[in-house]
Amino acid sequence: VILTQDELKKMAAYKAVEFVQSGMVLGLGTGSTAKHAVDRIAELLKQGKLKNIVGIPTSNMTRDQAVSLGIPLSDLDTHPIVDLAIDGADEVDPEMNLVKGRGGSLLREKMVEAASKKFIVIVDESKLVKHIGGSGLAMPVEIVPFCWKFTLKRLEMLFMEAGCVGKLRLFKDSDKPFITDNGNYIIDLYFKKDMGDLKAASDAILRLAGVVEHGMFLDMATTLIVAGEFGVTLKNK
Ligand code: A5P
Repeated sequence: VILTQDELKKMAAYKAVEFVQSGMVLGLGTGSTAKHAVDRIAELLKQGKLKNIVGIPTSNMTRDQAVSLGIPLSDLDTHPIVDLAIDGADEVDPEMNLVKGRGGSLLREKMVEAASKKFIVIVDESKLVKHIGGSGLAMPVEIVPFCWKFTLKRLEMLFMEAGCVGKLRLFKDSDKPFITDNGNYIIDLYFKKDMGDLKAASDAILRLAGVVEHGMFLDMATTLIVAGEFGVTLKNK
């Protein structure tokens, strides 16, 4: 049998939910993979196999999904310590550094996942890369709308040697800027060459005043679950 990509995502998500225990404060990720985890948590709650779960959603979309499934929700103000977060990723390197945010939810994801004692990343094997940001795919940066062209230029200038090109993200099939849950814009950065030292790149991006957050999640994941044609593998940091 050849499994679809969505079936692989579901396998990874269900495996991660095996680590959820009653009474936990749970970070609920965003995206087509994390969605399966949220579905599964709701199912186990309904069956009575899980009890007293509090979910902290990482986006309005996940909040709406969780509300519709009856998962009790809270936020970081009330629950500043999260026991376990489960979320997908766009790219994962061998050190478990991630690129996230192609769905636009990177800021809330990073806030919740940075507050989590454990962070399980769930992906199908297509997300595995040697170097994050090196695959020719977007590395998202959330910026304030004020003078976004200026911030875009500053971002490109930071990585001139890597042939970096920035693009303002638009709503699908539209010429209107995509707006995040926080009312901000997203610049997608594309690199011709490796961006070099990731920590240095991260620091440089965050030093720009118009930048709110970027989609590199360095040294945050504690467990990686990968689903592929040959089954599910689990790796701890
Ligand atoms: C949302 O902004 C992202 O960080 C997602 O977590 C990431 O894009 C993974 O999404 P999929 O599971 O849909 O690939």
